[in-house]
Amino acid sequence: MKKLENLEQFRSWAKENAFVYASSEIYGGLSAIFDYGPMGILLKNNIQREWEKAMVQERSDVVLLDSAIFMHPKTWVASGHAAGFSDVLVEDKKTHKRYRADHLVEEFYEQKGEKVDMDKKTPEEIAQIIKDNGIKSPDGNDLTEPRNFNLMLKTNLGSTDAQFNDENVVYARAETCQGIYLQYKNIQETMRLKLPFGIAQVGKAFRNEIVARQFIFRTREFEQMEMQYFHKPEDTEKIFEEWKQARMDWHVNVLGINPENLRFKKHEKLVFYASAAYDIEYNFGTLGGFKELEGIHARSDYDLTQHTKFSGEKLDYFDQERNVRFIPHIVETSVGLNRSLMMVLEEAWTQETLREPQGDTPADTRIVLKIKKSLAPIKAAILPLSKKPELQAKAREVQDLLKFDMMTQYDETASIGKRYRRQDEIGTPFCITVDFDSLNDNAVTIRERDSMEQVRLPIAEVRNYILKNLK
Ligand code: GAP
Repeated sequence: MKKLENLEQFRSWAKENAFVYASSEIYGGLSAIFDYGPMGILLKNNIQREWEKAMVQERSDVVLLDSAIFMHPKTWVASGHAAGFSDVLVEDKKTHKRYRADHLVEEFYEQKGEKVDMDKKTPEEIAQIIKDNGIKSPDGNDLTEPRNFNLMLKTNLGSTDAQFNDENVVYARAETCQGIYLQYKNIQETMRLKLPFGIAQVGKAFRNEIVARQFIFRTREFEQMEMQYFHKPEDTEKIFEEWKQARMDWHVNVLGINPENLRFKKHEKLVFYASAAYDIEYNFGTLGGFKELEGIHARSDYDLTQHTKFSGEKLDYFDQERNVRFIPHIVETSVGLNRSLMMVLEEAWTQETLREPQGDTPADTRIVLKIKKSLAPIKAAILPLSKKPELQAKAREVQDLLKFDMMTQYDETASIGKRYRRQDEIGTPFCITVDFDSLNDNAVTIRERDSMEQVRLPIAEVRNYILKNLK
């Protein structure tokens, strides 16, 4: 059994199977931006739906929001992004390619066989390490002095002549949670919510990441699934522990990730207002090891206090029982949707040898995406054995029985073996073959993806069988 070996293989497999394409490919692509193909969007939607189900539908204390990408520019002053959301950048003096200084330092230590925790290094320390060790660019050239580079993307709103004045500057949001803070009061009042409660949101975020080249792990346009849980300050510790465990359990039980490939990483260096912060990391083989997937942070009352200060609007809560007003504290869970998709694909991608080579006969292998059935883009493929009109009609009849409950795919091209392999590769749990006997006995053969076992069932029972076995 083999797993994906590197990012190049991952990228080309994801393209060939309609999961992920480079954006604007016909124009040579756009760095660190990707499009999701017919299979990719179905998988992404399924992951998002599972997140919303676990975070909102199955609970009674969390509600959803869809806030706009553009917010009042003061939002980003209050949040600290305008002044401080930056990476330390260095530039190759010859090629003018730009690099994140911390990445070059990390690689420098890795080449020496040393592991360093870059979280613990300040920008000044990183700059000093580059200087002291004469670290060069990956092309072997000298680097410029390190400088801070703000990651926020700016644009202008408005249709007047003054459109391109600084006054009309707005930012594409760098994280979705700021929209939650700005609507906290409206939601609490209009939904009549009592502490503790959460607001969850899935949506696009934008960051002008300095060289990424990590496929969909770090991109300039991406999606976050964030939840802010508002609570009384004395409950922080308990609530933090509950969310930390709930989020780890979701990756294991709902996304089907092997717990050995996941771990918690404690943040040793906390921002001044935070009382606890952990990442959930996944062991991305194609990225060389454990990398951040999700953050769970106890953020105190910092966010609502800042927005109260900058907007003049009191973002507090009135506790009727105790007759007191206070600013709620927040525990945040924040996970990348695209990173989750990358993890799910990497975890599920498997190359199996079905028959070892014998004499001149080469080995028989298949790539199978052993994805959780609930996440599979296509749940059932309907495959008539030949293109004879009677078989086509029977196969369409089967598809019509299923299509209102699940995504199906009709495929009549190539040999049946090739068609099975195509479906295995995109993770389709069930292939339904319609053959000549089906015309007489009104039955079809259903093949299961992982075991490749086949059962023959009357067409009338197919829908229930598949729905039952998708769980
Ligand atoms: N509101 C908190 C926040 O935004 P973050 O650690 O910057 O925290 C949260 O981002 C998650 O969003 C990350 O754990 C990651 O999964 C995802 N993420 C962040 N930057 C990303 C990028 N450039 N490309 C893809 N996903 C990203």
